[in-house]
Amino acid sequence: FSLKSYNTFGLNVSCKAFIDVTSVAELIQCCQLLQQQGKPFLILGGGSNVLLLEDYLGTVIHIAIKGIDVTEDTAYYYLSAAAGESWHGLVQFCLSKGIAGLENMAQIPGTVGAAPIQNIGAYGLEFAAACDWVEYLELPKCRIKRLRADACEFGYRESIFKQQLRNTAVITRVGIKLPKAWMPILNYGPLKHLPVDSVTPQQIYDIVCQVRQQKLPDPAVLGNVGSCFKNPVIDTDTYQHLAARYPDMVAYELPDGKLKIAAAWLIDQAGLKGQTFGEVMVHEGQPLVLVNLGRAKGADVVQALKAVRAKVHQVFGIAMEPEPRTYGAYGERGI
Ligand code: FAD
Ligand code: EPU
Repeated sequence: FSLKSYNTFGLNVSCKAFIDVTSVAELIQCCQLLQQQGKPFLILGGGSNVLLLEDYLGTVIHIAIKGIDVTEDTAYYYLSAAAGESWHGLVQFCLSKGIAGLENMAQIPGTVGAAPIQNIGAYGLEFAAACDWVEYLELPKCRIKRLRADACEFGYRESIFKQQLRNTAVITRVGIKLPKAWMPILNYGPLKHLPVDSVTPQQIYDIVCQVRQQKLPDPAVLGNVGSCFKNPVIDTDTYQHLAARYPDMVAYELPDGKLKIAAAWLIDQAGLKGQTFGEVMVHEGQPLVLVNLGRAKGADVVQALKAVRAKVHQVFGIAMEPEPRTYGAYGERGI
């Protein structure tokens, strides 16, 4: 079964079997059967954060469970969204119902079910800030569990689903809690100029969509998975040492005093913009993004990731960690 149209990088790989799952009951049945048979499987949502480096010798379970419910009390809206809903669709749904609070995270590709995994974030807002709970199927027992947001260990591009529950929790539904007393989040670059007293959620949404369209390549045109590395976090000493040498270095101070460095800046300064590795190119507009020039192979992707990481390390002494999840013939693997 071809996975080419199920991964936004557009890698031309296949899997042994592919199952589209549209209900929790189907998901349970499917996982139980595959586990009994000792067959490997991997969970796929929108395929916008996976690099499928080789043909996968197992079954792909595609999460297509749909449904959004809304309830409210005097202070909050409560959304319960199934894992297979589109994230951007949920943001649009909220806007259309006059429910504000997710607009900064417009146009992040992929599904609702994947949002908690790396705690998606953009333009000053992270999923964690709106999350109420996450419901998941615990493997291998196939029991439904629910974690409150404060137990999800959310961090920058991190959660319990990438650590302790990595590959053993299939997220089925997500709860989101949005205060009716909306507070616009305007601390990120292109939103800073907006007037806090009169700005509307629609205006924020429009600007975010516009900026994203300018900066990020459209996967329908140029295959990509967004940022290929996390922005590295370094300590104050390392920062001061580097800043003395590179006064233009782009850094954001974190609450614990550490500094988050713009990986795009590091890659740019390392002179890698536009560099190609087979059919993979470091994107000119946003060098943190690698793009598929058309016929990229897994080996090109591995070469590009390794070369970018090595060059940044050589120039700045900073180690970068890949952001997308990388898979080979037998499942998840490092690069
Ligand atoms: P997939 O790629 O299908 O899966 C990603 C991982 O999650 C895999 O390990 C998969 O096994 C697992 N998974 C998926 N669904 C489930 C589930 N229901 N239960 C358990 N495991 C599951 N991310 C940001 O945070 N901010 C951005 O601004 C951003 N911009 C992007 C822009 C572009 C153009 C692209 C292509 C990507 C961008 N991303 C961004 C990355 C991506 O949108 C997110 O990581 C998104 O959450 C991935 O969702 P998905 O459904 O496509 O996940
Ligand atoms: N920059 C350069 N050269 C360039 C481009 C950018 O030096 O060619 C510098 C600029 O100074 C810019 C800085 O890099 O200020 C940061 O760039 P940008 O604002 O585009 O954000 P980012 O840190 O590269 C992060 C997320 C994105 C998210 C944006 C907006 C990570 C790994 N990436 O990118 O998420 O959309 O912020 O909030 O945290 C993703 O995760 O896939 C993703 C796209």
